[in-house]
Amino acid sequence: MSVQKALEGRFSCRKFAETPLPRTVINDLLKTVQKTASWCNTQPWAIDVISGESLKKLSDSLIQSASSGDVPNPDFDFPEQYSGVFRERRKVCGLQLYDSVGIQKGEVEKTKEQSLENFNFFSAPHALFISTPKELGLYGALDCGLYISSFMLLAQELGINTIAQAAVASYPDVIRQHVQIDINRNLLCGISFGYGEESHPVNRYRTERESIENVAVFYD
Ligand SMILES: Cc1cc2nc3c(=O)[nH]c(=O)nc-3n(C[C@H](O)[C@H](O)[C@H](O)COP(=O)(O)O)c2cc1C
Repeated sequence: MSVQKALEGRFSCRKFAETPLPRTVINDLLKTVQKTASWCNTQPWAIDVISGESLKKLSDSLIQSASSGDVPNPDFDFPEQYSGVFRERRKVCGLQLYDSVGIQKGEVEKTKEQSLENFNFFSAPHALFISTPKELGLYGALDCGLYISSFMLLAQELGINTIAQAAVASYPDVIRQHVQIDINRNLLCGISFGYGEESHPVNRYRTERESIENVAVFYD
């Protein structure tokens, strides 16, 4: 598969089959993703992969925190607001998601339920957490962003579905009770992965992208 095909074909998967991936497949995937570039080749990412009973226990704890209304306390501040075009794009992306599963505007309970699926890792058999050393600041986080993209694209090539999830970084203290993320590192986000239930309605819609005229400026 070309990178172009992987980019065109991938999507955020929000319903996974239970089938776990063989450990060798995960190892090979991670080995290749290590080729990701980083500033000064610092390779700032640390990856914690969680599966099976450990993932189930973590999920229970996160659902407990999220559903009892614990205030998110992410290592990196979440955006304070989304204004203008960002607000609009965020709105459209939310509407597409809720539309796909037949949730109407104002159906608060159902919306909350769907949102809690984040903490169930969308039923994925595996999740990983990516963290970056505090001392490397913004550029460490930038390198981790490249890593996330490499992971998602290579997974796509291998027929593995993924979703990056900042939502799970809402409760780093809870995650640190299950996974050893050093206190000198900031948890950035999670990625749930496995084989997607491609026929599930939540996996059937695709998000749009801005045309390059509105994004790129050429100076000749
Ligand atoms: C860093 C990052 C964090 C994300 N966090 C979440 C999340 O917490 N929950 C969720 O449902 N989707 C999350 N997404 C998925 C985005 O909503 C999705 O990538 C975007 O809407 C574009 O759609 P696509 O991935 O299907 O192309 C995240 C994506 C990225 C790159």
